[in-house]
This record gives sequence, structure tokens and C-alpha cells, in this order.
Amino acid sequence: MLGLHYRTPRAWARQVLSDPPQFLLDHYFCELKAAAMARRTLRIHGKRRPGLKPLLNALADEELEHAAQVERLIKEKYPWPKAPKGGNAYAQGLRRLASLEGHGSFLDMLLVCSLIEARSAERFRLLADELRGQALGGFYEDLYASEVNHYTLFVRLGVDFFGEEQALRRLEELRIGEANLIRGLPALPRMHYGCADFETAE
Ligand SMILES: [Fe+2]
Ligand SMILES: [Fe+2]
Repeated sequence: MLGLHYRTPRAWARQVLSDPPQFLLDHYFCELKAAAMARRTLRIHGKRRPGLKPLLNALADEELEHAAQVERLIKEKYPWPKAPKGGNAYAQGLRRLASLEGHGSFLDMLLVCSLIEARSAERFRLLADELRGQALGGFYEDLYASEVNHYTLFVRLGVDFFGEEQALRRLEELRIGEANLIRGLPALPRMHYGCADFETAE
């Protein structure tokens, strides 16, 4: 359903859940960045495409609500974790892939957002399955549904603005690049990084 070309192994969920504060902190930043990306897209492209405004403002609000929920989870249980040094190699890699430095292409911007949402949804699904029956599992289940909707929204916007043929062809190219990127990232307790020993862990 998500069209991703790299399937995250189940072992990934167990790995990231072995360091909850670091993983939650990264998740918190991801939600904030998703909100910022939606607002940035609006700033750059909203004037020429006014239909974006209600959709992306609603999306940004939802991402901020997710961030607030994750923030509460951290504060209830842990001292505030130290942020890891260095940037986010996944986000940097996607930006390079899609030439998003500067304003970049609007289609690529939409499709990169769709890929991030799809990858997040895939991983929330794994976390929900791993924590089935626990409150935290229910939380990830809700996030899964929400990020699937966001993925669909961005693909639909790409198709609406650029036509099905162009949007889906470019999406396929970016999906291949995204799969190669995430497959090669190190295993860290982060939303969009790799997984160690995946050949033997399944
Ligand atoms: Fe979110
Ligand atoms: Fe999202």
C-alpha cells in the first residue's frame, strides 16, 4: 500500500525500543520537522496555489499535536535526553536526491514529503505490532493511520498539480533512491535510520 522499495525488518522495532529516550527524542524532532516542512511548502508555493492552505495548515497542526504527545511521553518518564550530534542523514540524503536545496521543484517537494510519511507509517506499524496490547502500541497504531493519510495527501497533491503520469513516474524514481538511502544508513535509535543484522534477524 505504501509502495516502498525497502521493507524495514521487524528487528528494527526491537532495536529502537531498546533506547526509548533517544528514540522518542528523534521522533519528537521528526514531528516538529514535518510541521515546519508543511509551513515552508505553504510559504513558498501557497500564493500560487491557494487550495494548499487549509490542507497543509491542518497537516502542520496535526504534526504539532503529535510532537506534543511525544514530548509528554518523554517528560512523564525520562530526564530530557541530549540531542545527538550531527544532522539527519536521511533528510539530507532525500534533499540531495530530490535537489531540494533552494526552492527546488514543487513536485519533488511534495513527493519527498510523501516518502517520509510513508516510511514513518511503515515504521509506526512495526512499533504498533511490537507493542500490541500496551498503551504505547495503541499510540503508534494511531500515528500509523495518521501518517498513511498524510502519505496519501501528498501523492494526491502531486497528481492533482502535475498529472498522474508525471507524478507517479517521478515518485517511482524517488522511491528507488529512498530505498537505497535508508538501506545504507547506520543502525541508530532513530525513526529513519537503518537496522543492524537484518539478514539474520527476521
Ligand atoms: Fe506525525
Ligand atoms: Fe505526518
